[in-house]
Amino acid sequence: MLELIDQRRLPGEFVTLLVRDTQQLHEAIRTLAVRGAPAIGVAAAYGPVLALQTLRADATTVDGLKTIVEACEFLATSRPTAVNLFWALDRVRRKAQAVCRHSRLTLGELHEAILAEANAIRDEDVAMCRAIGRHGEALIRDGAGVLTHCNAGALATAGQGTALSVMFEAQTKGRSFKVYADETRPLLQGARLTAWELQQAGIDVTVICDNMAGWLMKEGRIDLVITGADRIAANGDAANKIGTYSLSVLAKQHGVPFYIAAPSSTFDLSIAGGDEIPIEQRESSEVTRLAGVPTAPDGVAVYNPAFDVTPAHNITAIITEKGVVENPDAVRIRRLLGTP
Ligand code: MRU
Repeated sequence: MLELIDQRRLPGEFVTLLVRDTQQLHEAIRTLAVRGAPAIGVAAAYGPVLALQTLRADATTVDGLKTIVEACEFLATSRPTAVNLFWALDRVRRKAQAVCRHSRLTLGELHEAILAEANAIRDEDVAMCRAIGRHGEALIRDGAGVLTHCNAGALATAGQGTALSVMFEAQTKGRSFKVYADETRPLLQGARLTAWELQQAGIDVTVICDNMAGWLMKEGRIDLVITGADRIAANGDAANKIGTYSLSVLAKQHGVPFYIAAPSSTFDLSIAGGDEIPIEQRESSEVTRLAGVPTAPDGVAVYNPAFDVTPAHNITAIITEKGVVENPDAVRIRRLLGTP
């Protein structure tokens, strides 16, 4: 069984969700009970483990491997944009295939091997989050105004977040600064989750509506923008929550540095540029209703892309667990990630 914080219920209620099988896990990811690119990846990594646990006692390792591969294929259909999902499922599937090459492997040993891989993915994420924070914290000076979008905090990862990790580390250095959290329409991850996390941590946080960001920059309240990412192409184009692209354009116009904080598991070097990143389209009711109450006329047309892509040339730097890549491009990114 997998226990997840049910992020749909925050900040009103802090409750956990017990996930027993891949069907429930798929639903939890699709409906954003668990969300945020690294958290989706870590949660999905445990999916094949849950699937194995449903096998009959007399099942063979061949049955086990088939079940793992099917679980990975199924979970990969839960959400399309965050590459961490596919990265984590791929790792678990490859691990299973590798250990199954040994003859006389028992089903119990196969189970142990993929559980260990899922735990490793979780532990690595915790370490990557911390390292991102340490690499980025110096960017937040005493008295700074920081703008963030969506939620790239502990809730979105297995550790202390990506964009928010930078803030948490700056706080541990004794710096005081002010964070503006975009509410992040339509699902309000900024107002519900980021504001909640920062408030809990004792960081000065102010919620603003998404359409206020440009004006705050004009007023001189924002010294830097930091967001997370769901998938970063080889050239540095970065997909993140819808609204991030607009922020990057506003930041450029106002001379405000714009940073993306993300672990290496969020990079997809198999695609050259952001045009190839699949953008999730979500239900119209997310836009036409607020907590079940209609906010638009019945039957009105709705366009609801959940993500957008910020071009690399709008990004001042990408903060990763391996260091900071300024003016990101294909060469600098490969050099930092140590990929030939
Ligand atoms: O639809 P969501 O809430 O899963 O979108 C999440 C984001 O866009 C985050 O900014 C991103 O996943 C980075 S989380 C460290």
